[in-house]
Amino acid sequence: LQPATCTIGVFDSGIGGLSVANAISGLLPRESILYVADNARAPYGPQPAESILAYSHEITRWLIATGAKMIVVACNTATSIAIDSLRERFPEIPFVGLEPAVKPAAAGRRVGVLATAATLNSPRYLALKERYLADRPIYENPCVGLVPLIEQESSGSQVLAAKLHAILDPMLEDGLDTLVLGCTHYPMIREDIQAVCGSGVTIIDPAPAAARQVRRLLQEHDLEVEASPSLLSGNFPCTRVRAHDFFATGSSQPLQRALLCLPSLNDHRRLLVPNQS
Ligand code: SIN
Repeated sequence: LQPATCTIGVFDSGIGGLSVANAISGLLPRESILYVADNARAPYGPQPAESILAYSHEITRWLIATGAKMIVVACNTATSIAIDSLRERFPEIPFVGLEPAVKPAAAGRRVGVLATAATLNSPRYLALKERYLADRPIYENPCVGLVPLIEQESSGSQVLAAKLHAILDPMLEDGLDTLVLGCTHYPMIREDIQAVCGSGVTIIDPAPAAARQVRRLLQEHDLEVEASPSLLSGNFPCTRVRAHDFFATGSSQPLQRALLCLPSLNDHRRLLVPNQS
């Protein structure tokens, strides 16, 4: 079984990018997704920029060779480090990256940003912060150890709740009202985060905006499935059935578990490459 061609290639260090793939799948019901979770080399956050750059190029090359017409870098850390270089190296391919949604957070008075240290220190994030949030206190936390926990634990776990309290309680004591999820793993446990914060805190997930950007770029580059040439020429009517394919560089267990909670992706899942390591 070969992955479908003309897919939207999406990659992340693990299951986090599924939050973005899920939004894309919901918004674009004819598109197929080809997903790579690079969990054998995760987490990316604490690693040197050269390694993250090399992984991002390697996965992008593979996605393009396997039929991706567009690449979504569904990892904030990889976006902050690699997206400029990817765009330069693959100029024929449209790219969408994930950045902390700082602009909509400007409506808040006391804003928190959860992201890896690599993202928080990146020039792209620092410029966004300077532009939109320079006039108010920002509470940042690099959430050390949270990404591996999200890979291992299911939403609702006590271990996750304890970790979230350690990260969020100091911000909440200071009157946090808006929280930016600056790593695509965090929306996977959005309900756990909201439970710790309470309903008074607005949580900002960039996935819906990223999905809209995917739609815009597909239209702009004439790459939508409807606009693609037919698979079969002549008078034979055919409908292309969409199929999402998922690959993990390490164990496939976290993907299996996470996909069960995301029906918009799971219902169209064709292939999950088993890797039980
Ligand atoms: C990680 O692998 O550290 C998470 C990367 C991210 O989404 O920023």
